[in-house]
Amino acid sequence: MTARETAVAVAHPNIALIKYWGKRDERLVLPFTDSLSMTLDVFPTTTAVRLAPDAATDHVVMDGAPAEGEVLRRATTFLDLVREHAGRRERAVVDTRNTVPVGAGLASSAGGFAALALAAAHVYGLPGDAEQLSRLARRGSGSAARSVFGGFVVWHAGDPDAPYPDRASYAEPVADARLDAALVAVVLEEGPKPVSSREAMRRTVATSPLYRDWVTDSRADLARMYTALRDGDMTAAGTITERNALAMHAAMEAARPAVRYRTTATDAVLGHVRRLRAEGVGAWATMDAGPNVKVLCAPADAQRIADRMREVTDARVVVAHRGPGARLRQVTA
Ligand code: PMV
Repeated sequence: MTARETAVAVAHPNIALIKYWGKRDERLVLPFTDSLSMTLDVFPTTTAVRLAPDAATDHVVMDGAPAEGEVLRRATTFLDLVREHAGRRERAVVDTRNTVPVGAGLASSAGGFAALALAAAHVYGLPGDAEQLSRLARRGSGSAARSVFGGFVVWHAGDPDAPYPDRASYAEPVADARLDAALVAVVLEEGPKPVSSREAMRRTVATSPLYRDWVTDSRADLARMYTALRDGDMTAAGTITERNALAMHAAMEAARPAVRYRTTATDAVLGHVRRLRAEGVGAWATMDAGPNVKVLCAPADAQRIADRMREVTDARVVVAHRGPGARLRQVTA
């Protein structure tokens, strides 16, 4: 790949049906388990990266304001990694625009780091295919590895005994997935989460008596999910998705001190999802590192579920379908 001065990339968030929760290597961002997600067609992040050969530091603008603190540190650490791989030294100007609430468990970092990885790889002239890009995005935020691809995506944890564990952990599209699914996002809160997913994972791995069982269960869930996706079996996919999310939250709630992202509003929405099922509507819930709920369903049921959620909550409700992988929008030589 030839180096360019500016690149603009767009990427979408993904929601895991089989969750990633816990790193076996913090520096390389290597997870304990494989995870599987659906990339969405809503909430894109657009990121422009421009080389700034005369600048002494990176300059990062997020949603119109200069980034500072942890956000700036993570972006700069990521750019350092790209520069190290590319053998380059120039600093960069990054301008990133989210359409997803940041830090609220709606996977803003997934779309964000997938877009940053793609744009930065272009401006610094890093060679590699999409699989390689997923390894790079992984280092910014684990779930970002999956947003490199569209549709249903699996992120392989990789064999811990592989000679190069970094190479063994990458994402790719799920082959032969025949499921047609939608996700109804029930956005209860848009603020940043009280505990970062990084810290929450660390605490769960170190102190939760349920973590080992979570790892074992999650492997079994993944095997069943592959079958459900290949068979286009919505009921099976939904049942596994909801169970997997509840198990992840149970594991973190058993940590010391407990990590609790679910609120009473979350539990109320979970109750409405169960009620819909009792009425014969195929609806299954999943939650990430935040109070918001995403409801997995067949596309034909999405509107009805969204209408119900608007009726019974004052949440912002957004219907999403399968979306595309990360794309370059504009490249200036
Ligand atoms: O990519 P991170 O470090 O923000 O972790 C995300 C973890 C979950 O969203 C809770 C689960 C997942 O697999 O996306």
